[in-house]
Amino acid sequence: ELAQAQMLAEEANLGKTRFLAAAGHDILQPLNAARLYCSSLIEKAGKGRAGKAAINIESSLESVETILGAVLDISRLDAGAMKPDDTVFSLDELLRQIGNDFQPLAAERKLGLTIVPSSLSVMTDRNLLRRLIQNLVSNAVKYTRRGHVLVGVRRRGELVEIQVIDTGIGIAGDKLNTVFREFTRLDEGAREAEGLGLGLSIVDRIARVLRLEIRIFSSPGKGTRFSVILPVAAAQEPRREIAAKAPVRTAASLAGLRVLCIDNDARILDGMRLLLEGWGCSVDTFSGSGDLEGSVMHRPDIVLADYHLDGETGLEMIAKLRAIHGPDMPAVLVTADRSSEVRATAARLDVPVINKPLKPAVLRSMMVRVRPLASAAE
Ligand SMILES: Nc1ncnc2c1ncn2[C@@H]1O[C@H](COP(=O)(O)OP(=O)(O)OP(=O)(O)O)[C@@H](O)[C@H]1O
Ligand SMILES: [Mg+2]
Repeated sequence: ELAQAQMLAEEANLGKTRFLAAAGHDILQPLNAARLYCSSLIEKAGKGRAGKAAINIESSLESVETILGAVLDISRLDAGAMKPDDTVFSLDELLRQIGNDFQPLAAERKLGLTIVPSSLSVMTDRNLLRRLIQNLVSNAVKYTRRGHVLVGVRRRGELVEIQVIDTGIGIAGDKLNTVFREFTRLDEGAREAEGLGLGLSIVDRIARVLRLEIRIFSSPGKGTRFSVILPVAAAQEPRREIAAKAPVRTAASLAGLRVLCIDNDARILDGMRLLLEGWGCSVDTFSGSGDLEGSVMHRPDIVLADYHLDGETGLEMIAKLRAIHGPDMPAVLVTADRSSEVRATAARLDVPVINKPLKPAVLRSMMVRVRPLASAAE
């Protein structure tokens, strides 16, 4: 009976997680539209009062997006929907990247930030490990008033211990477990810095998914050490970074490009049109149902398609258009669906993916990367 009750409870929990993921997906859609409207408003309104208000709206929308993103990540990690993608990689490069990301923040707070070089490699999901360590370094920098933050790696037999050490405010012994609960912040911490109280609950989830061990050692007023423990991987031939990325010309113009936007949400199409026309593109839109060939008169230079349409998927639409206009027609999938299935199917069709809520700068640089070279004037 107990086993049965536990099973039911687990099922209810999973149901809740799925509900949250679905609701989150639906909230991201209008949020995305709002961001798009806001970007074009900022460009139009310029530096006046209205422009400043629009910038504030954008920053509030960004906060909503951050919170929602974190909550969705947690629910995805809980539901087992985020599958780790294991590769062998060197810790040195990963830690140096994180060091670079946080150096400006540390400098602003007059803290030293040291990344100790290491020659060790591990096998795990690089992105998830990166996010885990980023959260630890972010905390170390936020909750340290003076002194420094050190990130280092130690080998312990077959295990590797990544340490994030700070000389900060510390965590009381009886709070070491509570800090991992979602939306939990300690009074001491809340006095030091802003936060949502979600970082460590994401750390905890990622550690579970990657089967890593996290250890904390802290003394209040002196500092904290977080350790991440994982198996060492036999060092590999250094893998050449794939040089497939075309050089990104950020200042490049998109003027004159004919863009076809496919989305079943009319507000998104509206927002996309405003944004793209602001960059000088000419825009055709298609709601995803009805007569595709009849509605799309001209060959688009780039197709931007949502994944979940009414009936067919965005990738199927792209395949259809390529069948008509040629297999090399550039296309980008713009979707709030972060599942690995969608990613894999898109990769097979050689269609890059960007996630909703769409960041205009990300869209712009992606369009610069995939656009046909001859059609847009520099
Ligand atoms: N290195 C640290 N030193 C001292 N206190 C810490 C440290 N790391 C975390 N804490 C405490 O644990 C709490 C929870 O941390 P967590 O990373 O989950 O959330 P946060 O940093 O408040 O917000 P965010 O969601 O932006 O990460 C913090 O509010 C802080 O009180
Ligand atoms: Mg944090």
